[in-house]
Amino acid sequence: MKVFHVELWSIWLSGFVLILLSLYATQRLPSLNNDDYRIFKLKKIDVLYSRNLSITIFSAPKPFMDSIGTRQSHAVRSWLALSPFVNVVLYSHHPSVASFANAFDSGRVLVDTDIDFSFLGSPFFHSMIAKSRSFPSEIFVIVDPETVILSGFISTLNHVYELDRDWLLFASPQNVSHLDNTKNVKIQEKVQQNLQWNYCYNAERMLLAWNNKDMPLHNGVLPPFVYGKGTHNNWIIHEAISSEFRFVFDASWTITSFRMNNATFENSSALDIENRNWEYIGNSHLGANYGSFFYSEANYSNLPKLLICKNKYIMVDTKKNIVYPIRHRGGVNLLKENTKHCIDNQKSVTEMLDCSVKDQMKIPESLELPFSLESLLSITADRNKTIVLTVSGYSYKDMLMSWVCRLRKLSIENFIVYALDQETYQFSILQGIPVFKGPIAPSNISFDNCHFGTKCFQRVTKVKSRIVLKILKLGYNVLLSDVDTYWFRNPIPLLHSFGPMVLVAQSDEYQEQGPINLPRRLNSGFYYAHSDYQTIAAIEKVVKHAETSGLSEQPSFYDILCGEGGTYRVGNSKCVEPETNVTVHFLDRNLFPNGAYQNLWQEKNVKAACLNNGCYIIHNNWISGRLKKLTRQVSSGLWEYDPSTRMCLQS
Ligand SMILES: *[C@@H]1O[C@H](CO)[C@@H](O)[C@H](O)[C@H]1NC(C)=O
Ligand SMILES: *[C@@H]1O[C@H](CO)[C@@H](O)[C@H](O)[C@H]1NC(C)=O
Ligand SMILES: *[C@@H]1O[C@H](CO)[C@@H](O)[C@H](O)[C@H]1NC(C)=O
Ligand SMILES: *[C@@H]1O[C@H](CO)[C@@H](O)[C@H](O)[C@H]1NC(C)=O
Ligand SMILES: *[C@@H]1O[C@H](CO)[C@@H](O)[C@H](O)[C@H]1NC(C)=O
Ligand SMILES: *[C@@H]1O[C@H](CO)[C@@H](O)[C@H](O)[C@H]1NC(C)=O
Ligand SMILES: *[C@@H]1O[C@H](CO)[C@@H](O)[C@H](O)[C@H]1NC(C)=O
Ligand SMILES: *[C@@H]1O[C@H](CO)[C@@H](O)[C@H](O)[C@H]1NC(C)=O
Repeated sequence: MKVFHVELWSIWLSGFVLILLSLYATQRLPSLNNDDYRIFKLKKIDVLYSRNLSITIFSAPKPFMDSIGTRQSHAVRSWLALSPFVNVVLYSHHPSVASFANAFDSGRVLVDTDIDFSFLGSPFFHSMIAKSRSFPSEIFVIVDPETVILSGFISTLNHVYELDRDWLLFASPQNVSHLDNTKNVKIQEKVQQNLQWNYCYNAERMLLAWNNKDMPLHNGVLPPFVYGKGTHNNWIIHEAISSEFRFVFDASWTITSFRMNNATFENSSALDIENRNWEYIGNSHLGANYGSFFYSEANYSNLPKLLICKNKYIMVDTKKNIVYPIRHRGGVNLLKENTKHCIDNQKSVTEMLDCSVKDQMKIPESLELPFSLESLLSITADRNKTIVLTVSGYSYKDMLMSWVCRLRKLSIENFIVYALDQETYQFSILQGIPVFKGPIAPSNISFDNCHFGTKCFQRVTKVKSRIVLKILKLGYNVLLSDVDTYWFRNPIPLLHSFGPMVLVAQSDEYQEQGPINLPRRLNSGFYYAHSDYQTIAAIEKVVKHAETSGLSEQPSFYDILCGEGGTYRVGNSKCVEPETNVTVHFLDRNLFPNGAYQNLWQEKNVKAACLNNGCYIIHNNWISGRLKKLTRQVSSGLWEYDPSTRMCLQS
């Protein structure tokens, strides 16, 4: 009993000293270098550390600014100080993260931008986990970017690395939320109060670690959770337990980690506080709808705990009051006699509450982006106030995603999706896409049969021109692109260079020779409209014409802008509409081929053939039926999305 107390005290004491040091460090950050963080190692237990395990710690920090940046910096430095074989991978697009990482010349801190992010820059957890597999490391760890890891980490991992089966451990950071506001009062007392062992499990901030073996963490597919927005750690732990692929246990007692305070929301912009709730709501929806996960089942107190007794690691089930032997591969059973008294003691210190459960019980009802069209446009448009707009219904959602993934790969972020139905809207939110819907969408579109020439197609296309008009009137240039276009490179600078009063459109002409502006050859599935008075007037005429027409909007575009029968044609590739003086410029089909041009889609290597012509985009039109269209695009390799994992394909 005494021995145990000594152990516990030594942990407490070290933790305490370290917190003091870390508090000191908070105020003196710039003068610290990596060596100063060596103090984070707990001497006594960490002597076992000899195996030089390669460990990769993954996290997704916020921008390194303000107090959050300081806390993150502490956290990352504390990780690096654990062992020279710890490497850190930070998922972020933000320049401040890149410059933070560059300050470590050893290359131990990498920044990875090649995963899926939401349009507000939040990384996707499922994509982080998938990407982790590409790093050569014996152990993977995911931890909240503000969690300082103090001690016990390396020695715990060394121990469990030798377990005779694959494992997943979790450790809840301790709650010292009041510390950094109390620099001048008696810190000693505060630490004792706050580092008591009867704290809450903080599922949202848990550290997860697992050995890198073939055995997956869980059965089934990890839903597209947004990282850091609740639920996903819970989900992983629960699914890992129920799949029984791995031994899942609680190492909160042997790994000392903490967060300086609860400041997740402390200094986020208004955007963050009010507008990020939907990320939590989205995650809750996913958590509830995928796998066997139910909120009420998350109960950490029932799981095996790793504890230290008489300088030895033991696995305890406090509920059943039994000690598991820790079976190692070498057949050595580390469990010795005299553990009974330890367990009796442990029981009193392992009453940790799952405080997060009650909050997660309530699954919020509706999933909505809290942005009006106007605010969404201002967030996503580029500096020239240009927006790429696409329109999609649910049966085209995979094609939509492939299109989105392609644009993201080209670093084109100024796009926005108009959802024709509620399913597409919610799906898009969960995929992190800037999406809006409106009262204009026809309510009962059946999309499998909504192809060219049908009534449904006509109704849908009319929606498109009305949305374009609305956005033009809000002062944004619009590049309308159907989802069945594959983008080889960014066409926006070229399209922008035509200037005002020029509507730049793809030609749907199929004959290789001759004019490309013949009647009804304007493809209204890919055009660029500059936001100016004349262009708005011209599109307004198109919309008005389409309303009363029995056809789709495509003929309206041509008949209004180029005149019926092509009376306003100028040369072989232009028209000038006399009332508004708006010019229609038909795009060079070598650069913007339609689906019939040169039979490019029939080429063995569509990509090479197109690029040989100098393609910007190729349209997957001139084919009837959704499935044929889909098949053609997937089999040609001009495809960027994996619907089974809900992730963009890695290049
Ligand atoms: C661990 O690495 C150190 C050098 O960093 C080396 O001296 C030692 O031999 C290594 N231990 C093992 C078990 O490989
Ligand atoms: C942290 O401590 C405060 C006050 O002691 C408590 O209200 C809060 O619920 C704790 N949070 C967690 C996650 O344990
Ligand atoms: C978390 O921080 C906020 C703002 O700093 C504060 O209002 C709140 O009481 C804190 N919560 C806890 C549990 O400490
Ligand atoms: C919060 O962040 C904003 C913008 O990043 C900054 O201007 C402001 O000073 C910060 N406030 C605090 C209290 O850190
Ligand atoms: C979790 O398990 C403990 C011990 O069995 C029990 O007291 C507690 O009520 C459980 N919590 C939930 C939320 O089921
Ligand atoms: C904005 O327009 C200018 C001038 O037309 C062009 O040089 C620049 O590349 C454009 N910027 C973007 C982000 O498209
Ligand atoms: C779709 O809605 C239109 C108008 O609201 C209605 O006339 C039509 O019958 C509906 N079609 C189906 C298949 O429900
Ligand atoms: C179109 O151009 C003609 C001749 O240049 C000019 O007289 C007319 O005012 C212009 N119309 C508009 C709407 O700008």
